[in-house]
Amino acid sequence: MNLDEQAREILRRNDKGGYTVPTHGLYPYQWNWDSAFAAWGFATFDLPRAWDELDTLMSSQWDDGMVPHIIFHKSDPGYFPGPEVWDTGQTPPSSGISQPPVAAIMARQIWATDRDAGTERIKALYPKLVGWHRWWHDYRCTFGPAAITHPWESGRDNCPDWDIGMADVDGSGVGEYTRRDTGHVNPEMRPGKADYDRYIAMLQYGRSTGWDQAKIVAGGPFLMADPGITFMLLRAHEDLSAIGRELGQDVSEIDSWATELRSALPLIWNDALGAYDARNLRNDAFAGVLGSGAFLAYLAGAGNPKLDAQLMRAWDAVNYGIPSADPESEIFDPRRYWRGPTWPVVNSLIALGLTENGRSELAERLRSETADLIRKHGFYEYFDPVDATPCGGADFTWTAAIWLTWAGNETENAQQKGAA
Ligand code: DGY
Repeated sequence: MNLDEQAREILRRNDKGGYTVPTHGLYPYQWNWDSAFAAWGFATFDLPRAWDELDTLMSSQWDDGMVPHIIFHKSDPGYFPGPEVWDTGQTPPSSGISQPPVAAIMARQIWATDRDAGTERIKALYPKLVGWHRWWHDYRCTFGPAAITHPWESGRDNCPDWDIGMADVDGSGVGEYTRRDTGHVNPEMRPGKADYDRYIAMLQYGRSTGWDQAKIVAGGPFLMADPGITFMLLRAHEDLSAIGRELGQDVSEIDSWATELRSALPLIWNDALGAYDARNLRNDAFAGVLGSGAFLAYLAGAGNPKLDAQLMRAWDAVNYGIPSADPESEIFDPRRYWRGPTWPVVNSLIALGLTENGRSELAERLRSETADLIRKHGFYEYFDPVDATPCGGADFTWTAAIWLTWAGNETENAQQKGAA
């Protein structure tokens, strides 16, 4: 089987009927941003299935507009913390936080593959997407940039960006629990125990408020501005506005959210670091660490020469892809989840931004390095950017998806790919 066929096979195997799990075992439910990437991948060979994925995702929307980060369609004892721990009282059961709002970005890409076939589908999704973006604006952008109330909301769970906020979270009283993730993959590639205690403490706080998002923002144990979500949301607002205009809708409200968010970017620019930086919204302190979230700026057309210099420094210090944390800093840990590894899915978003900003040579370098990793080791969740060691879950949905939409599009190496 060549790699295209393998990638399609992974999507089909991870398809649970209307939604796709990120990978079997480690992540047995529907995850929000994974699902949007799955839809993008399906669009390369099964367009109706791509739209179904987004429909299922958006059908989990809460009354306040939030689209949760995990949707627990069918109970699975192999995952912790499951639906009874979150206890959100929603149908279908879900977690109580959100995740990077990339669905509108993917919906626009998918629609572009076949306008006629997609028009009715995107029309049905549009009001739900607007509702979710309004939720981000009303509940998470009250300080300007997009804020997260839990590191899992960022999608970049344990990246060093959150260390200063995590230091203020007391995880000592969470009680006994059994992790499941470390039974599925090498514990050295996962967040540590102290991190997990704090993740659970934040969850318990949210649950104690009855998942009242305003209360969580006002008084929760963790609130940080996230450059990654800020850029993805900004880009998604602009894509949603373009979709709305094509559908003949009044998009002035969406445009006003985008303008406000763009004008908040100086608040996450740390001149001392020479990059966009996460910020603790409880005391305004910058994280002072360079992470891959900063490079998502290109996706929102917010690059600049100083950021370019940081990108090249961090990238040239490794061999494969953009590292999730600064390879020249002491905290760099090349195989531990978001503390160093390169993530094919993030590379795909950064490359999209680079291409659109006229940097196609850099985008091609990123594509070819990401393709090398997949060709060497398969569709892993993430990789060591120094020696290419495959990490985390195998046969991963979003890695297969971005192979089909982006990394596998190797015009010059087409023959090699066919032979793989
Ligand atoms: C996990 O369980 O590790 C997930 O990333 C949370 O979203």
